[in-house]
Amino acid sequence: MGRDVTVADWLAALDRRAELRAKAGLTRRLHPRAAGDAVVDLAGNDYLGLATHPEVTAAAAGALSAYGLGATGSRLVRGSTDAHHALEDRLADWLGADRALVFSSGYLANLGAVRALVQPRTLLVSDAHNHASLIDGCRISGAETVVTPHADVQAVADALAAAPGRPAVVVTESVFSVDGDLAPLARLHVVARRHGALLLVDDAHALGVIGPAGAGGVAAAGLAGEPDVLVTATLSKALGGAGGVVAGPAEFVRHLVETGRTFIFDTALPPAVAAGVSAAVRLARSGDDLRTELADRAALAVRRLGAAGLTVSTPDAAVVSVTAPGPEAASAWAADCRDRGVAVGCFRPPSTPDSRSRLRLTISAGVARADFERALDVIVECAP
Ligand SMILES: Cc1ncc(COP(=O)(O)O)c(C=O)c1O
Repeated sequence: MGRDVTVADWLAALDRRAELRAKAGLTRRLHPRAAGDAVVDLAGNDYLGLATHPEVTAAAAGALSAYGLGATGSRLVRGSTDAHHALEDRLADWLGADRALVFSSGYLANLGAVRALVQPRTLLVSDAHNHASLIDGCRISGAETVVTPHADVQAVADALAAAPGRPAVVVTESVFSVDGDLAPLARLHVVARRHGALLLVDDAHALGVIGPAGAGGVAAAGLAGEPDVLVTATLSKALGGAGGVVAGPAEFVRHLVETGRTFIFDTALPPAVAAGVSAAVRLARSGDDLRTELADRAALAVRRLGAAGLTVSTPDAAVVSVTAPGPEAASAWAADCRDRGVAVGCFRPPSTPDSRSRLRLTISAGVARADFERALDVIVECAP
């Protein structure tokens, strides 16, 4: 007996869903990218321009010829290279943490960290603007999750107070990825500690960009090394590479090594990437001049775009959000900018925490200053 739904039905259903997305202005398309293209990049996350730094690529090339292309297995199965250990020591030292463990992506670091923090009866308290990887971490952990309004410390306190005696974890980004605002980390920590809860902070958009020696939002809030604060980050943004990290007490890192599914059942970060990111950490730590330039450019973007009548977020780091009238207008705006040699992020639902579409500019100190200023003009000229 055949099934009621044929392959043709299934493919037709996928076509209908694509049509619905197109009608709502939510089509997503891959655009070609040539090596060394002349596009002014305000869409990627290479905040410090380290992805192409010669010391970074040389370190990666050395490890590439020593170890080959991939790690060829998980570290527990295939062994743990010097490149991985050196990177973890360097990251822990920078973040002021006891220990650090690298994952093959920031997404997997977040899934692994959230799940590893959950015990029976744990309550997760998650900010409404959190990144998809934190949301998915909460979901796959199976723990009860209360989503609190964005940056609402009182709502976090209320959620914790309503679950007395239960283990709890407050989950937040530091610099939020869509609007670029900084979470009230110090106040969240006070509330979490008062209720005996842990605080998990995704420092993805802050690491290398803010904090002492670029050590991120947790360090900027004076929380580095606190035993009840766990930090995650991607190594793909200011560090220009790939991979993720979880940093915290040695006992927690041991727990992740022995039980973390996204660490154990995943091929390790390629040693060449680990070596390149290690070099990037050294450069990022000493990159105060780059951070000053970033802050200056973010302020300039707000001034110029604001003066042109655009609605611009107030950035706490290097993410600037510019409101678009709707999803179609946002796509057309980004496409026009691209046609004029400027890449900008186009954020539409479901990638936005509210229903608003916007352009997201991620400012990079690696872009020539004159190109950056020209890009701001292009954004204004292409505005709907
Ligand atoms: C806040 C945040 N967390 C985690 C990630 C995921 O990191 P990765 O790209 O390394 O998987 C991203 C985006 O890349 C992000 O913006």
